[in-house]
Amino acid sequence: MECFEVTGGARLAGRVRVTGAKNSALKLMAAALLAPGRSTIHEVPDILDVSIMSEVLRRLGCDVSYERAPGTGGGRLTIEVPEQPSTETDYDLVRRMRASISVLGPLVARCGSARVALPGGDAIGSRGLDMHISGLERLGATIVSEHGFLVATAPRLTGTSIWLDFPSVGATENLVMAAVLAQGTTVVDNAAREPEIVDLCRMLVEMGARIDGAGTSTITVEGVDSLQPVEVTTVADRIVTGTWAIGAVMTRGDVVIERGVAEHLTVALDKLIDAGATVEALPDGIRVAMEGRPRCVDVVTLPFPGFPTDLQPMAVALAAVSTGTALITENVFEGRFMFVNELVRLGADVRIDGHHAVVRGRERFSSAPVLATDIRAGAGLVLAGLCSDGVTEVQDVHHVDRGYPDFVDQLRGLGARIDRVTRPA
Ligand code: UD1
Repeated sequence: MECFEVTGGARLAGRVRVTGAKNSALKLMAAALLAPGRSTIHEVPDILDVSIMSEVLRRLGCDVSYERAPGTGGGRLTIEVPEQPSTETDYDLVRRMRASISVLGPLVARCGSARVALPGGDAIGSRGLDMHISGLERLGATIVSEHGFLVATAPRLTGTSIWLDFPSVGATENLVMAAVLAQGTTVVDNAAREPEIVDLCRMLVEMGARIDGAGTSTITVEGVDSLQPVEVTTVADRIVTGTWAIGAVMTRGDVVIERGVAEHLTVALDKLIDAGATVEALPDGIRVAMEGRPRCVDVVTLPFPGFPTDLQPMAVALAAVSTGTALITENVFEGRFMFVNELVRLGADVRIDGHHAVVRGRERFSSAPVLATDIRAGAGLVLAGLCSDGVTEVQDVHHVDRGYPDFVDQLRGLGARIDRVTRPA
């Protein structure tokens, strides 16, 4: 079992560089399937989920290679897509990562059929696929679920109007990737507006797709007959950026987050200012500094541009060491407060009522062994460990490996005392 041993007391200070976003890179990789030939993606984070997605693509017949750019957390990924990709994904691989569902749209659009295992992923809620399925059905696909697989067929998709019940990131991406090769015009309404959607649409447009409205609630796609491979750079990871920003505030530090984009984190950075931090947008990054103990601020998670659900665990950890009381409301994933039990082991005063958490701040955490239940919960627990009175052992850190490149090295570079250790299971 791999663990982090985090020694409390250090103040995060210095510079840290953020590479491309996991949640974008994985979709750019899926989008490459839409065109035969070699696509190249820069600033792809060196994380477990990228290795899993690379393997998913290899099993579909692609040649995938990764070259690490030293000292950046990321690298260059090349995907050579065959004329005729296979249309069946590997059951065990897909179950390890929910984002693998994003190959469904490109495969049906390009090959007319796809057999994609029902995905797994983080244990943070039910995470249905109904909007992916009903949207593809509206585009003309027939979809059945059999033996743990979704099987989709469509000789040629046809443009249509789709209204999403909720601005789902994954559904928006899958439907746009399907619509780019459909016949005619598709309008996706109540679409997600995340920067990762804009990044994906930018790549698709460079491939030859006709897309209007990326980053707004209405995305219009004019189908084309074929696309070309491209070379693109992944947008910076706003969740990793936000993690370092919150870490700086919790530890009363001073951190420059290189490549962090302030406009992608407006609400979160405003909350940090309300908590007492100094936040400065720099030409190529963000500086976050904190003197003294932060104040509690209420947080409500919402689809972009709201406060990101992926930073909610860090927001709870921050409130738990701030002065006063905060109400944290989770609106995106119903299971996302599960990690709070672990934070309570560290002495946090948190009461959950449905999708609300009432957090009463304490001076510091009291170190204990805790379990990372998903990627972001793991990062939140490490930040809590930095504010504890001893050595906090965070277990099951393979979750953190899924989303944070060079996590230990980056934290050490900022002055944290953290070690990765292997314990007998
Ligand atoms: C993506 C991100 C994840 C982030 C989330 C919300 C990736 C790989 N993951 O996940 O880190 O937390 O966006 O910003 O990009 N839902 C349905 N039916 C559907 C689709 C979604 O009910 O067909 C529900 C989900 O259960 C969830 C909510 O909608 O409660 C949001 O999900 P969605 O926006 O689709 O998130 P993901 O794309 O899975």
